[in-house]
Amino acid sequence: MVDISPQLARLFREDLIVIDGSALRRPPLNQIQEVATAIDEMGRRSGIAQGLKGPNGAVAPVTQSFKLAGSSERLYILANGDSPRQLIGILKVGRKNLFHYDARGTMHQLQDQPSVLDFYVHEAFQRGGVGLSLFQAMLEHEETSAEALAYDRPSPKLIGFLRKHYHLAEFVPQQNNFVVFNRFFEKRAAPKQTAYDSVAARPLTARNNRRRFQ
Ligand code: ACO
Repeated sequence: MVDISPQLARLFREDLIVIDGSALRRPPLNQIQEVATAIDEMGRRSGIAQGLKGPNGAVAPVTQSFKLAGSSERLYILANGDSPRQLIGILKVGRKNLFHYDARGTMHQLQDQPSVLDFYVHEAFQRGGVGLSLFQAMLEHEETSAEALAYDRPSPKLIGFLRKHYHLAEFVPQQNNFVVFNRFFEKRAAPKQTAYDSVAARPLTARNNRRRFQ
């Protein structure tokens, strides 16, 4: 856990705060060194918990303050309400351009797809509902649902979490390691016919060409 210093306490008037890249680049956040340090420490712990390692074997965190500052991603940071107050969880979301094959082999281009990129609750608080509170707060703030999101390399714990709380289980594994649950496609409106579809519908279309580009 990361202790909330008096400087950080100025930010944590509520237990949950949301920081995006642009906020991190301007005052007051860029003037409080503890903010970057706290983000880096939570990111590092998340990386350790997920076993993320770089080529040199060192921890390779997904969440780092300098990367966040240069992005449009949003980081949700959760503190506990008890004294001494400490940071106990992070959840990072951002948009990605993904190519995705659904269960029928249809290729979808998911542009600016909202995605969960990092999610961590301190070990002392896991399996106590803290992750669910953090995730639910994110869904409300982002005005979205669990099935409408993509998940970057979800760990077995996150897979279990999503199955338990949101009944999300079926997905088609992808080479890019992002998971988009089958329900994402079931809930989407039928795609409009494109020029490519109308050509594909002609009898002379190659028989084995079953993959469509949307
Ligand atoms: N083993 C298996 N499933 C687990 C575990 C575990 N050790 N911990 C949590 N879960 C799943 C289970 O479904 C569990 O329900 P159960 O206890 O009835 O089996 C459920 O999550 C518990 O839900 P919460 O208490 O609301 O969630 P929690 O506070 O534990 O937070 C989280 C979930 C964030 C995944 C946490 O376990 C964690 O930080 N894990 C380590 C880091 C990690 O793997 N993060 C996801 C990375 S992938 C990504 O970010 C895209």
